Amino acid sequence: MELILLGPPGAGKGTQSKLLETRYGVAQISTGDMLRAEVKAGSPIGLEAKSVMDAGGLVSDDILVRMIGDRIHRPDCAKGFILDGFPRTVPQAEALDKMLHSTAVDLDAVIELKVDEAVLVERISGRFTCGTCGTGYHDKFKLPKKLGVCDACGGTEFIRRPDDKAETVHARLEAYNAQTAPILPYYKAQGRLYAVDGMAEMDEVEAQIEAVLRKIGVPPAGV
Ligand code: AP5
Repeated sequence: MELILLGPPGAGKGTQSKLLETRYGVAQISTGDMLRAEVKAGSPIGLEAKSVMDAGGLVSDDILVRMIGDRIHRPDCAKGFILDGFPRTVPQAEALDKMLHSTAVDLDAVIELKVDEAVLVERISGRFTCGTCGTGYHDKFKLPKKLGVCDACGGTEFIRRPDDKAETVHARLEAYNAQTAPILPYYKAQGRLYAVDGMAEMDEVEAQIEAVLRKIGVPPAGV
């Protein structure tokens, strides 16, 4: 399965792609996570990306296209992948089409998670993750079962992203509307675009995505 999850910051792309990764046995590829790893490592890409990410802008297409070109050919993508955060501009979408074409891989679907802007801000400003295993939580929507202890690994250190500050969130939403939303008509014209209600409960959003995948003939792993 080759799938793109599209949507503004906080729409639930990361949440849903992690759920689908297990259920469909494919690799989740988050360009945000890849860039944050480069920043943490202090690599040349990380040094270039940091200030742009901190300001809520988009890192250059060249860097992202090279990163994805390498990533989708790794062994864990043999059964497919879910792209979370890529493409984010029309030139990135065009570059992805070329890459897939050259390897005779066909994109199954592009699923847009639709969420109102006020909800996005609330979701992003309440988000935190386990510093040990990266499991995601939210102050209001998804607290660990035992406060202060990660459900997945028992870790007790939690982190918040520097770009989740209110003023940066608004810049990220502007970048989405100006640079990423134009991808929607691009994929609509290809007949690959499906929309789901990202405002619903997490398991309901997951069920809607699975319904789209069933409709286009993509079953979960092992079915
Ligand atoms: P990236 O990491 O991709 O951030 P983003 O797109 O802004 O998306 P988020 O991770 O903020 O949100 P999400 O949709 O994954 O939502 P989540 O599931 O976490 O990118 C960061 C930066 O990197 C960019 O700003 C840019 O600078 C750079 N970058 C990355 N890719 C790039 C590219 N291709 N080109 C150029 N630059 C690039 O959910 C959010 C919260 O809501 C969580 O707390 C979650 O628990 C909660 N939640 C989720 N679903 C629900 C629900 N249904 N109901 C209630 N709460 C929910």
